[in-house]
Amino acid sequence: MQRSMRKSRPLLALVLLWACGTEAPPDVPFVPDYPTWDEHIRPFLAEHCVLCHGERPRNGAPSEFRLDVYDDVGAQQGARSMAPKIAEVLERGKMPPDGVGVGPNARAMFRRWAELGAPRSPCTPSCEGRECGDDGCKGS
Ligand code: HEC
Repeated sequence: MQRSMRKSRPLLALVLLWACGTEAPPDVPFVPDYPTWDEHIRPFLAEHCVLCHGERPRNGAPSEFRLDVYDDVGAQQGARSMAPKIAEVLERGKMPPDGVGVGPNARAMFRRWAELGAPRSPCTPSCEGRECGDDGCKGS
């Protein structure tokens, strides 16, 4: 019983994705205060963009960048370098190219990520050896 339920979950997820995809654009439930590559950006890109913008660009996607990696790889720009461009393209509703774009929270999330300098991991305040001042995480 347990086993068959677990098995049916991916199918259910697919059906839900399909059902949502035909109506609402992909979105995130809320805009994170501090979006990071590891927690928010990578999963979203992996689900909605890497089909075309992976290691090997597909469906006519440009080859100068890829969105499955954070850092640049050789001459190909990674997501970090592309952050401002991604934010812009999403705000214009240009991607994904099927015409619906992404939802408002996702747009705001990518804009904030770009403005923060495309952070990779959740920020850990670094106060070691300091008495006061900037903790490196926009706090003190
Ligand atoms: C079905 C394939 C496909 C998917 C899915 C897709 N893209 Fe694209 N993308 C393209 C193609 C083709 C181009 C080049 C043509 C163009 O600019 O319209 C492109 C261009 C881009 C560019 C460069 C635009 C420019 O003006 O230089 C960015 C940035 C981008 N995509 C980001 C994304 C993001 C972020 C997602 C996911 C939310 C995404 N794409 C999903 C196919 C795709």
